[in-house]
Amino acid sequence: MAQLSPILKQATPVVVDHGEGVYLYDVDGRRHLDFTAGIGVTSTGHCHPRVVAAAQEQVGKLIHGQYTTVMHKPLLELTERLTEVLPSGLDSLFFSNSGSEAVEAALRLSRQATGRPNIVVFQGGFHGRTVAAASMTTSGTRFSAGFSPLMSGVHVAPFPFAYHYGWDEQTATDFALRELDYLFATQTSPQETAAFFVEPMLGEGGYVPANSEFLAGLRRRADEHGILLVVDEIQTGFGRTGKFWGHQHFDVRPDIMLIAKGLASGFPLSGIAASRELMAKAWPGSQGGTYGGNAVACAAAVATLDVIQQEGLVENAAARGRQLLENARAVGDKTAAIGDVRGLGLLVGSEFVTADGKPDTATAQAAQKAAAERGLLLLTCGAYMNVVRMIPPLVVTAEQIDEALDIWADVVASVTK
Ligand SMILES: Cc1ncc(COP(=O)(O)O)c(C=O)c1O
Repeated sequence: MAQLSPILKQATPVVVDHGEGVYLYDVDGRRHLDFTAGIGVTSTGHCHPRVVAAAQEQVGKLIHGQYTTVMHKPLLELTERLTEVLPSGLDSLFFSNSGSEAVEAALRLSRQATGRPNIVVFQGGFHGRTVAAASMTTSGTRFSAGFSPLMSGVHVAPFPFAYHYGWDEQTATDFALRELDYLFATQTSPQETAAFFVEPMLGEGGYVPANSEFLAGLRRRADEHGILLVVDEIQTGFGRTGKFWGHQHFDVRPDIMLIAKGLASGFPLSGIAASRELMAKAWPGSQGGTYGGNAVACAAAVATLDVIQQEGLVENAAARGRQLLENARAVGDKTAAIGDVRGLGLLVGSEFVTADGKPDTATAQAAQKAAAERGLLLLTCGAYMNVVRMIPPLVVTAEQIDEALDIWADVVASVTK
């Protein structure tokens, strides 16, 4: 009998039967509070009735209307609806299936539009697993190990990860920008640099928000040298951070934005947004794919936008995010084993450290496992996998946050005693 690859590991032993809102129900009928949301995907909750209805209706009409062969209504409707939420000036869209594909599409556009070969990424960033995206990923060596030779032309500058460096935010930001200038002088000249690729908040890299001064520094250098600023909103988009886009916390203007995850409530759909002028610089024939802009995924995405807007999910993410961060900080304050609790909106991470301040992977993993046994599903992240992250759906209620945090407080007490 065939079996799944033995290295495809599940973070929890749960075998799911069905999902509803914030809950997953396993094949034995046990209920789990899902604070992973499919790695930040099911923002409207599992199987939101409006998303289900839209997808079911679309399945009966057209499943696959291959978008380089024919145009279909859900794709046109989604493109129009996204106009309401896209940052001003980003009025042209290309759709693909996964986050990594969107990263590759933005890379291709950046190189074609500027005629320059190199890009700069920021340490701790995660952009995906395909060869280009893995080459741009520095959140952990596991994503690129054994995969070399990787793509050339990628240069890595520091991200202002103050807690990691043991500095305050200002010192970390000054350092990151100074090193970027040094990188321009020593590794890739600005004239050879096509784009910066940056997350508004490191996701896989450990839930580390950027800051306004750092991103303004990137914008200034981009404008000065004709470099494109590509903001990877794959994990932070669609209200997840308590604003529609993560970068809106920092008042910065992207040239290209990457979208996926929260876009279609679990259907594979991703894309890039840029200005019409910039998108027109892509070379003919360079954008396409068999499954991109799938009709059912697009119909689900339109329904997802309806739910986000009509149920006030961005506002809910902001309010529930404050509650989640405050309460997670209260848990962290009670033990030296949690060195830092940080996040934006409904993306909150607790970093576990040993008594001498080193990354404590074992305790983080024990806490994640103990939480799962208690019916609270969480994930880890960070270079050392020592950050436990909470990413509940945007429909989460105050009571569900309290329920999760009660479990979390008990779990942390039990694994750190
Ligand atoms: C910020 C960011 N970029 C890119 C990706 C890659 O997306 P995918 O796994 O769909 O290829 C992810 C996935 O977690 C992500 O969080």
